[in-house]
Amino acid sequence: MLILTKIIRNATISDMADVLNIYTYYANETTISFEEFVPEIFYFTKKLPNPGDRNVFLVYEEDGKILGYAYTSLYGDSYGYRHTRELSIYTDYEATSKGVGQALLNGMIDQLSELDIHILISVITAGNEPSIKFHLKNQFEEVGYLKEVGHKFDQFLDVHVLQRKLI
Ligand SMILES: CC(C)(COP(=O)(O)OP(=O)(O)OC[C@H]1O[C@@H](n2cnc3c(N)ncnc32)[C@H](O)[C@@H]1OP(=O)(O)O)[C@@H](O)C(=O)NCCC(=O)NCCS
Repeated sequence: MLILTKIIRNATISDMADVLNIYTYYANETTISFEEFVPEIFYFTKKLPNPGDRNVFLVYEEDGKILGYAYTSLYGDSYGYRHTRELSIYTDYEATSKGVGQALLNGMIDQLSELDIHILISVITAGNEPSIKFHLKNQFEEVGYLKEVGHKFDQFLDVHVLQRKLI
């Protein structure tokens, strides 16, 4: 009998090549990411949490293969934003709609709640309906819509702003 091992765990620096590989598709082919060019690996290594900064970086691993990742960033630099984080979450484009994103978000919410993070924000490009549905299913509410704040592939892009209260 085939037994798949699926785990959610904290990311390490040695996962960053796989993380970059997942992101490359979204950067090159879609407006889901606003990067026009594939970043250097440092773009991700610098997002690994530092002690005490109350950020989280998770990967989803199935039989030794990384199929998705999620990390948080500060929402704003001001001290007053210290209980808020912004979420980035990506499933390998060949492994979407199989529960990877859900498992990552569950793990993320568990850890952020332990860290006393109050609000989690996601910013989603207009037209990315699967992601909007994913967030709405997970008790995020849409709180804003910003027009033409992004630009990629010769077009201005709108974004939805969604948030979820954690604690
Ligand atoms: C959004 C994303 C993280 C969701 O992860 P996923 O692994 O594809 O989603 P899951 O299989 O865990 O689905 C969880 C729920 O999300 C919703 N969902 C996921 N894919 C969907 C789709 N294509 N259409 C409608 N709803 C969808 C469903 O409600 C689903 O629950 P269900 O299976 O019980 O119906 C993933 O699709 C992704 O990486 N998209 C590109 C990057 C992105 O948009 N990131 C968010 C902005 S940073």
